[in-house]
Amino acid sequence: MAELTLPAPAKLNLFLHVTGRRPDGYHELQTVFQLLDWGDEVVLATTRGSSIDRGADLPGVEESSDLALRAAKVLQSAARARGRPSGGASITVHKRIPLGSGMGGASTDAASVLLGLNALWDCGFSRDELAALGLGLGADVPVFVHGQSAWAEGVGERLTPLCLGERWYVLVFPGEGVDTPSLFADPGLRRNAPRLEPGLERDLCALGNDFFPVLSGRVPAVARAARRMAQFGVPRLTGTGSTLFLEAADEATANRLTSDLKNHYNVRAVRGRDRSPVADSLARPEHE
Ligand code: C5P
Repeated sequence: MAELTLPAPAKLNLFLHVTGRRPDGYHELQTVFQLLDWGDEVVLATTRGSSIDRGADLPGVEESSDLALRAAKVLQSAARARGRPSGGASITVHKRIPLGSGMGGASTDAASVLLGLNALWDCGFSRDELAALGLGLGADVPVFVHGQSAWAEGVGERLTPLCLGERWYVLVFPGEGVDTPSLFADPGLRRNAPRLEPGLERDLCALGNDFFPVLSGRVPAVARAARRMAQFGVPRLTGTGSTLFLEAADEATANRLTSDLKNHYNVRAVRGRDRSPVADSLARPEHE
């Protein structure tokens, strides 16, 4: 039986526009996904038989809605359906990304499970095939499977890789949020943002996040945190919240801003990454 420990990096949406609504109710988006050098950790162990189990409890997440377990089951079914090898697995998620923070916690765990078990079970699926399986689990899963910061369109699955270079951010967790489906359904949400050409030749900061006015109107704690952060820069929202962030010029500035804000909020300085650390972990010879 084999074991593999993989990072599961968090993401930020450097801007997020809602450009339309599809007939199936899902929304068309334009966004930039910035992967981070910080996130959860997923420990995978293959087991005899075919059961998919948790190796440890995950407080706040029911087994039936655990996307990491669902990812393993989806991969197992796809492998069986296409005559590929598979097996059983025990999955332990060490959670650091707060639940409901807009940083893709459940999606990145699911992506690391797809990538890791594909290697451990020797299923032989390509990244594109794994991303397609991931899209069925959630709109944010494909970017983590491809493992590259990217410009995204569609529901977030049409990806153009980006080189964002060395960037630092200060994350502020206001502690309260609103669930994603209810924000997408909010009558006050702008759904007709003009479509932009992909690329970085513009001020992403000025583009903003269409969920910010809706969320800050519904959650006073988010509006208060944004006002406090505004003395240090332009506060931005990631995903449907509730994490707010500031971009910092360098590591020292990020650390200084963190100490300025930490008396009031749960804060963290993090570095952006163009390439997911999962790709490096899997590139070790035994997983090539
Ligand atoms: O894909 P994910 O599971 O994260 O989406 C959660 C919910 O958010 C969906 O069921 C849908 O109501 C809404 N959503 C949407 N358009 C998107 C992504 C999510 O309407 N592009």
